Amino acid sequence: MSGSSRPVEDLTPRRIVEYLDRYVVGQDAAKRAVAVGLRNRLRRQRLDPELARDVTPKNIILVGPTGVGKTEIARRLADLVHAPMLKVEVTKYTEVGYFGRDVETIARDLVEVGVALVRAEETARVRERARAAAEETLLDLLEPDDALDFDDDGAEPARVPDREALRARLNAGDLDAERVSVGVVERSGASMEVFSAMGVEQMGVDMQGLFDRMAPPRTVERTMSVGRAREVLQEQEAERLLDRDAIVREGIRRVEESGIVFLDELDKVVAADGGKGPDVSRGGVQRDLLPLVEGCTVTTRYGPVRTDHVLFIAAGAFNIASPSDLMPELQGRFPLLVSLESLGAAEFGRILTEPRNSLTRQYRELLATDGVQLEFTPDGIEEIAALAQRLNQEHGDIGARRLHTVMERLLEPVSFGAPEQGGPLVVDGAFVLQRVADFSA
Ligand SMILES: Nc1ncnc2c1ncn2[C@@H]1O[C@H](COP(=O)(O)OP(=O)(O)OP(=O)(O)O)[C@@H](O)[C@H]1O
Ligand SMILES: [Mg+2]
Repeated sequence: MSGSSRPVEDLTPRRIVEYLDRYVVGQDAAKRAVAVGLRNRLRRQRLDPELARDVTPKNIILVGPTGVGKTEIARRLADLVHAPMLKVEVTKYTEVGYFGRDVETIARDLVEVGVALVRAEETARVRERARAAAEETLLDLLEPDDALDFDDDGAEPARVPDREALRARLNAGDLDAERVSVGVVERSGASMEVFSAMGVEQMGVDMQGLFDRMAPPRTVERTMSVGRAREVLQEQEAERLLDRDAIVREGIRRVEESGIVFLDELDKVVAADGGKGPDVSRGGVQRDLLPLVEGCTVTTRYGPVRTDHVLFIAAGAFNIASPSDLMPELQGRFPLLVSLESLGAAEFGRILTEPRNSLTRQYRELLATDGVQLEFTPDGIEEIAALAQRLNQEHGDIGARRLHTVMERLLEPVSFGAPEQGGPLVVDGAFVLQRVADFSA
């Protein structure tokens, strides 16, 4: 089965930072830290397992105010390595025995992500074969039975040329309105969802697999349009071509070797007094997280998964509590501590224009679909950035998220009227100042 498309060895810290630079402005220290964290994991995986056990994981804590790129960095990192990544808010978890989610579900959810990732890759890989097979089945269904008969003189079967003509008509869409009868595979009605709520997956039982064995899928004849039949057949064909067990094995392997867990709001489970206060549950979450971060085996419905090499990236504002208020054992597992800078007008100007999918590009392309040619001049960008900074100072600092609200308000009249108006629109300094005057009036 195909692994991730890029050999991991190529992902040197320098390359990782270069990649992140395309999407995230500034925050160099944080980018370096995650790049090093990723490399350290690779280094540890290469050690002989006995030594690897003694080398503690080098996880990362990103400390910084809201909206400055913490999640963005983690998300881009996961895209880069095609790794299963799960983002969780640790405040959702409470100590075992308390009401709330148990931290082991983090590992289970990560396995779901890993299996889904591999399944999507494999489905894409078999898509062409599934399409071709579905087309043949559809042609079989459409072909009149007598096409298979020999001509009266008993010579050549007329099948081949007819079939090609039929294929041409099918692919031109000429037959879309015809109806055909297709064998549809129906799974047993009982579904996994009902049971996962009851926590059966914690017993490591693959309930869906169990149901399928108890009540094997039945095939039912259904009449439908050719267009719909093509979709159904293609889906069933893809399903048949996929090796479910191999997908699960590869999904688990991906999690164990390259999984990333992003623990957001870590500061919220740290009490400023170091956990000696009355809030037992928060300290309990830290205690429960520890084995997961140190490396343990968690039972999932796909089988056991080890967390030894999962990379944990934690983030938090740490306004009140500080990372040094974390349990000492946990601090030891997060040796990379980096601060992210709060953002000002200069960064905002760059964020608006430099990243590959910058907001200005998004608006340009969105409005172009309605025939409006949007252009941002340098002084227009400067005014938007200055405005965002001012609003952050006056109404609370929400970092680069402010740019989203500012852009939406600035361009509201265009977004509203674009379909009728069309034409060019230049967003320069004067335009921005005029809009600001409008909405403060
Ligand atoms: N340095 C940056 N460069 C480019 N875009 C950024 C930067 N910082 C933030 N953004 C953009 O701002 C938005 C919010 O950023 P992000 O989700 O990373 O915030 P955060 O630091 O995780 O905040 P929080 O603590 O609230 O979770 C995203 O759309 C992101 O693309
Ligand atoms: Mg975030």
